[in-house]
Amino acid sequence: MLEDIPPDRAFTAYQAFVLDCKLYWTRSMFPELRKRYHAAVAAAGSPPRTSAEVAELMKDDTTAQFFGWYERHLQRMKYSGLRGLAVHYDQYRDLIGRALAAEVPDRLLELDPDFKQPEYYTSIDIHQHPGGVWSDEIAGYVYERGAQSTAPMLDKAASLWHRMKEQALSRAGGEVKRVVDLGCGFGGSTQPYYADHPDIDVIGIELSEPCLRLAAQRAAELQARNVRFRQADAIATGLDEGSSDIVTSTMMLHEMPPSHVKGVFKESYRLLKPGGLSIHLDFLVRDDPFKEYVHYGHSRRNNEPFMVPLNKMDIVAAHREAGFDEVEIVPFEEFDGSLSPEMTAWRFPWTMIIARKAA
Ligand SMILES: C[S@@+](CC[C@H](N)C(=O)[O-])C[C@H]1O[C@@H](n2cnc3c(N)ncnc32)[C@H](O)[C@@H]1O
Repeated sequence: MLEDIPPDRAFTAYQAFVLDCKLYWTRSMFPELRKRYHAAVAAAGSPPRTSAEVAELMKDDTTAQFFGWYERHLQRMKYSGLRGLAVHYDQYRDLIGRALAAEVPDRLLELDPDFKQPEYYTSIDIHQHPGGVWSDEIAGYVYERGAQSTAPMLDKAASLWHRMKEQALSRAGGEVKRVVDLGCGFGGSTQPYYADHPDIDVIGIELSEPCLRLAAQRAAELQARNVRFRQADAIATGLDEGSSDIVTSTMMLHEMPPSHVKGVFKESYRLLKPGGLSIHLDFLVRDDPFKEYVHYGHSRRNNEPFMVPLNKMDIVAAHREAGFDEVEIVPFEEFDGSLSPEMTAWRFPWTMIIARKAA
């Protein structure tokens, strides 16, 4: 049982320290960086028009340098430091491996023994996770633990997934019989659909076997009967055309190159019934060179190289190419007040990309 991993005070204290540092970075350093940016703009006399111009303006600013350095190294500590997640759970790999190899009902998990991972996926240690989230049998578990502090201002990662599910269901209108969650990871974004809506048939699609195994375990623990986790690429799910009312993803698009993102929109269109809803939650910055500078810096520092090309993509054109007529690009409120002008702390630029297949 995964719950048998013994508590460890030193590990808990270390991870709490890293999280507190990240909160300090979020709530105190980011507003300070913005203040210094405005001061630099005032001194320069004209505002930068691009993130590259912001980078040039801020390159000798020691707060900006420390901000970036701190972000990179906090993430490194979180996963690979002395009591980092990957290092700590390595000691329990037998226990985790056994727990994940335990039988789950066949209906929950569909692995493909001949599956070949796309090259873009295997060539990066995404978000500084050693070996990525796919190459080690404990990677899904380590990732699940790490996700609890990805967005430090959120009390619980689960509240984000729940809010996203509410957005999708309320926008779908009409009866929803099937939902496909692309890039479902360890099933966090899939769970609100299958756990809260036993009448909906839910399918999670994912590349990573360790993530899929954990997703199926978690569903088995909840005795779910209405979900299936399937190993497939989001651009070629192998599911029937016109079989789904909602196709969704959460934080997947920024982890793939633009050619793949286009493939996802095409696959979303193919999977949807007429009138069905495509809704993808990801990170986009619009018309703010300072926020873009911070976001592009985050992409570099966190080993998330496709964040920048996603932000530069013509999302509307890619949807038209896929068959959709219209697209809405809408900010997503991940917690109450996160979109308020009074919100000065750093946050991810959460954005929903919403399209509907013509009825
Ligand atoms: C940041 S995680 C998000 C996981 C989950 N949706 C969540 O909200 O916790 C992105 C996931 O997308 C998966 N992924 C990346 N490229 C994919 C692809 N081409 N097809 C399916 N899944 C993919 C990764 O393995 C990873 O689990």
